[in-house]
Amino acid sequence: MVSKKFSMLAAGVAVLALGLSACSSDDGDTKTDAGSSSTGDTGGSSGDTIKVGFSQVGAESGWRAANTKSIQDTLTKENGFDLSFSDAQQKQENQIQAIRSYIAQGVDYIAFSPVVETGWDAVLQEAKSANIPVILTDRAVDTQDKTLYKTFIGSDFVEEGKRVGEWVSNNLGTEPINVVELQGTTGSAPAIDRKQGFLDATKDNTNIKIIASQTGDFTRDGGKKVMEGFLQSNPDIDVVYAHNDDMALGAIEAIEAAGKTPGKDIKIVSIDGVKDGMTALSEGKINYIVECNPLLGPDLAKIIQTLHDGGTVEPRIVTQDGAFDQEQAKAALPDRQY
Ligand code: AHR
Repeated sequence: MVSKKFSMLAAGVAVLALGLSACSSDDGDTKTDAGSSSTGDTGGSSGDTIKVGFSQVGAESGWRAANTKSIQDTLTKENGFDLSFSDAQQKQENQIQAIRSYIAQGVDYIAFSPVVETGWDAVLQEAKSANIPVILTDRAVDTQDKTLYKTFIGSDFVEEGKRVGEWVSNNLGTEPINVVELQGTTGSAPAIDRKQGFLDATKDNTNIKIIASQTGDFTRDGGKKVMEGFLQSNPDIDVVYAHNDDMALGAIEAIEAAGKTPGKDIKIVSIDGVKDGMTALSEGKINYIVECNPLLGPDLAKIIQTLHDGGTVEPRIVTQDGAFDQEQAKAALPDRQY
């Protein structure tokens, strides 16, 4: 079977790296209730390939483009998958519609990165009733019922915000500073968690004052517009905390248009580590970046293959992220994949 190719590829690395187990679950090849546990289902596959429906958030950022490419490059026919992919354009209603369509098509697995955290129970219950296992990638859902999905793979966003906050506190917060925050999409897991992590890390440093906070929707344009407004109403901005690189890059444009020097007159810290962000960091326009790894395709494929083979997966799989200052960005850039 073609799908075995991926199984072979995954063997050895996946088990340790992802908390996957190749051991059969109790019922082995038998299809079970999708939400009963994190054990594997065989799903409704017929033929050689595993049918996967993937609902993506949108195309809002460089990170998202890299994430989409990673998924599409990995869940290929050659690797044993038949991928249906849809772009929700940052709208929850589009994602719900896509998931319902995957249920109607009878795919074997549904994977998605939820645009916002809440409001998923009904549609996930529909997938569960149809015995279609769901895998969350990148972003979490807020639900009491953890049986509605098999696993959630992605970064620890609270930790990312915390690492940025610690860097700001240690490197800039030795004197009073005014911080403005460019938040991600309202209601999304990364916006909620990155805000929280930053606040947790800086709460005891009385030098750090957040004077304005607004969403730029994770887009470059949004970051630019919000930063223009911040600059007009606040003459004394010392630091920009951007929840992603794209908004930081938009802020750079606004700061330069206002006649100031990004990275010097106004320091910038952000999250992601995409090529454009790393380039700006290497040029001194951004001061520090905590990485968020978008290359989730191979891990997603391993998870699906493991479930399909009757193995088990941990309910939460956290990906590992680095962090970069200017010199580290210069060193990392030549080999940066995204
Ligand atoms: O969910 C991950 C976040 O979404 C990335 O940090 C951001 O760039 C993207 O839009």
